Amino acid sequence: MRVLVTGAGGRLGGAVLARLHADGIAVRATSRRPRTGSDVEWVVTDLATGDGLAEAVSGVDAVLHLASSPRGRDTYRVDVLGTRRLVVAAGEAGVRHLVYISIVGVDRVPIPYYRHKLAAEQVVAAGPVPWSVLRATQFPQFLDDLLTASARLGPVVGDRAVLAQPVDPGEVAARLAARLTAGPLRGIEEFGGPQVLRFDDAVRAWRAARGSRRPLLPVRLPGRLGRELRAGGLVTEALPRGTRTWADHLADTYGGTGRR
Ligand SMILES: NC(=O)c1ccc[n+]([C@@H]2O[C@H](COP(=O)([O-])OP(=O)(O)OC[C@H]3O[C@@H](n4cnc5c(N)ncnc54)[C@H](OP(=O)(O)O)[C@@H]3O)[C@@H](O)[C@H]2O)c1
Repeated sequence: MRVLVTGAGGRLGGAVLARLHADGIAVRATSRRPRTGSDVEWVVTDLATGDGLAEAVSGVDAVLHLASSPRGRDTYRVDVLGTRRLVVAAGEAGVRHLVYISIVGVDRVPIPYYRHKLAAEQVVAAGPVPWSVLRATQFPQFLDDLLTASARLGPVVGDRAVLAQPVDPGEVAARLAARLTAGPLRGIEEFGGPQVLRFDDAVRAWRAARGSRRPLLPVRLPGRLGRELRAGGLVTEALPRGTRTWADHLADTYGGTGRR
């Protein structure tokens, strides 16, 4: 099997390349800039313009579509229109399976990025290529980055009762590889981490790991966004779950001795 991985240079992409390499799967990988690597054939592709797409999908059996532009004005152009371009090109090239990575809660939580991810899921499902969607919960690094950015301004600001379920990207990569082998689901599956955490508990563990004295400044997120996040809009009961915990991430990142 030969697999095209879009967005292969990103956080999840790195874990996916390692997983597919370990599984002995031949990989072509996309990035917007030239890259080299001994195990992977890199191709330059831009989903916002369609440049390089036809060449990227030519001769591959399956596509793992990870590329995304979460920030800024490009999200619609890259995630929705770019996904449509990819799906059409893959259909014309005779690709037999397209796996799209999405996020748990895109159908519930009113965040603009999620609206675009949901639209991209629908593009994939309506397209000519047999498909699967895997919705994962947040990667621990995402939560870590959020807390780090918040703490730079002083206290860590957040809604204590928001629920999160961090999942290790390496375990998401393994799940994506398993989905490739299993074939098209023509449906959506969800995958989350081993624990559902309240925001204040996650912050407490993060502060302890970093040896930080930054207090938590509680705010109550208003409106439907707050209600959905407190009600578990970002978490899933789906089984199986990942095994690596928030505490594992903190130990890997900050060690056992406090601040890095
Ligand atoms: N982060 C999370 O917590 C999380 C949780 C669940 C699901 N996901 C999903 O997992 C996927 C990967 O997330 P990630 O955190 O690994 O993201 P990331 O590190 O930002 O990687 C995304 C990649 O998309 C590529 N990209 C951006 N604009 C592009 C364009 N115009 N054309 C082609 N490629 C473009 C970039 O590659 P180049 O710069 O090399 O071109 C980038 O490396 C996303 O679809 C995201 O929605 C993320």
